[in-house]
Amino acid sequence: MKNWILFLLTIVAVFLLAALATTIMDRKAEARFAYQSQVVIENIEPKDSVWGLNFPRQYQSYMKTIDTTFRSVYNTSGHRDVLEEQPELVILWAGYGFSKDYNQPKGHGHAIDDIHKTLRTGAPMEKGEGPMPSTCWTCKSTDVPRLMSEMGVTEYYSQKFSDLGTEVINPIGCADCHDPKTMNLTITRPALAEAFQAMGKDIKKASHQEMRSLVRAQCHVEYYFDKNQAGKEGANYLTFPWKDGMTVEAMEAYYDEIGFADWEHPLSKTKMIKAQHPDYELFTMGVHAKRGVSCADCHMPYRTEGGQKFTDHHIGSPLSNIENSCFVCHREKQNDLMTDVYDRQKKIKEGTAYLQKHIAQAHIEAKKAWELGATQAQMDEIQKNIRHAQWRWDFSVASHGAAFHAPLETSRIVSSGIGKAQEARILLSRLLAQLGHNQPVEMPDFTSKAALQAYIGLDIPKEKANKEKYLEQVVPQWLQEGKGREASAKKVKLSSN
Ligand code: HEC
Ligand code: HEC
Ligand code: HEC
Repeated sequence: MKNWILFLLTIVAVFLLAALATTIMDRKAEARFAYQSQVVIENIEPKDSVWGLNFPRQYQSYMKTIDTTFRSVYNTSGHRDVLEEQPELVILWAGYGFSKDYNQPKGHGHAIDDIHKTLRTGAPMEKGEGPMPSTCWTCKSTDVPRLMSEMGVTEYYSQKFSDLGTEVINPIGCADCHDPKTMNLTITRPALAEAFQAMGKDIKKASHQEMRSLVRAQCHVEYYFDKNQAGKEGANYLTFPWKDGMTVEAMEAYYDEIGFADWEHPLSKTKMIKAQHPDYELFTMGVHAKRGVSCADCHMPYRTEGGQKFTDHHIGSPLSNIENSCFVCHREKQNDLMTDVYDRQKKIKEGTAYLQKHIAQAHIEAKKAWELGATQAQMDEIQKNIRHAQWRWDFSVASHGAAFHAPLETSRIVSSGIGKAQEARILLSRLLAQLGHNQPVEMPDFTSKAALQAYIGLDIPKEKANKEKYLEQVVPQWLQEGKGREASAKKVKLSSN
């Protein structure tokens, strides 16, 4: 009898618990989708604070991308001077903007102030001046999709960076990833859709889980500015080199075939390719992508606040938030997961650190060979090896998450780069001997950023003084003017409910 009572009580208890769980789940689902619509956003609204009226949690968490306090060992949200830490990069990028200034990237919310501040964008005191094309703005701002729809895409790509200084004032934000009518994820940058087309795929057919990565693939990818696109002459047309595949070799072959160079290196006279940040491409070659994990699973995990589940928009290092980012799938201890990440990063960095020193020396040895009268024919094979070695090195480091996202593929790329760099140096030492130079080539002081910048002929104090003037006199005016335009073009009206 006693057992029967116990049994019945247990059944009742289980039933009540199940009922409770269902109500909680319903409430959660309700909570997730119930939001107070404060404004109707009709067009491309570049201002996040307007979207924030409807979606305060997403907005507030996104605003945290401005916070720069989190530090992990290799990636930070702070402002680390990479050239100070690894001065030989000044040699690798001689003749190119990155040799002047290269800092650890900060969060999305800093996209506009950072691009104004870096020495790479120069100091245009008037519209129409300066070294950079408008295409440089493409991944920095929600004003870009607005401008593309107002001006037309080709026209947008055909300006100077400074021409759009009063137009592009809002950093990366809601309008870059969301359709305001449905809040669905959406592709706002034509380059990605065009790259899919070039591969014979239709981006409109991407699944929801794929879209959770593809919104990031609009920017976290390798790209170049195509100046010869048919019918679009005069434009710096943003293009992804994916036609023949996304591996480092496929893109290298693509660039070789079209004879593309971002710049000619002033020391070795090599036609160089600057890798951008192929995060997406390398990610697809790692185990997480193979198991269907998307960028957002780790970089934008769900969070619950006051019983409301929402997507945490504080995009940044998942290591600041392992409980939400990793524990959904992993049962390991927090420290073990952290160690897994750091181990992979540390081991790959050993390879890239070795590789970059060898490439720097190869550039300088090549300079010596030119001075001793080497011919272009003698230098062809050497330059090809330097070009390919540096492309591989850049591909693996510029993708800041690659050492974790795809450690095997990344180390494969680094070792093939080391092979190419060594090949270049072997050929160089033979050539130098042939030209009568039998001792090691004298090297500048590789421990000092300033010494190397002087060695390649940069006048950094002058560049800094110009930049200061630009930041004091030009940028505030541009931003002011832009704000005025924005207020008159408000695309919202209060909803009736
Ligand atoms: C880099 C791309 C990106 C940016 C920028 C972005 N979002 Fe999202 N957002 C996402 C992704 C990815 C999801 C998850 C969507 C899914 O899985 O359906 C999401 C989901 C949402 C959702 C659905 C509810 C939820 O929490 O899952 C809302 C609402 C939202 N975002 C609002 C915003 C607002 C407001 C901003 C600007 C402050 C913003 N988003 C900026 C990518 C972005
Ligand atoms: C399985 C989890 C996971 C997925 C999925 C993932 N990442 Fe990461 N990502 C990480 C970790 C861990 C780091 C290293 C963070 C650190 O070192 O602080 C990282 C680093 C990065 C960084 C450098 C961050 C910084 O602070 O400089 C970028 C950019 C990045 N990831 C982009 C992406 C993109 C784009 C995708 C999708 C194509 C993606 N990630 C998918 C876990 C992930
Ligand atoms: C959505 C699920 C999911 C999330 C989120 C996730 N992982 Fe994974 N992770 C996997 C799967 C699946 C594998 C493949 C191995 C397996 O099947 O167990 C894997 C494998 C790994 C491996 C071994 C793979 C290798 O490269 O050697 C590490 C390390 C790892 N994850 C770390 C992390 C960390 C750190 C985070 C958080 C930043 C994270 N994972 C987030 C699903 C996930």
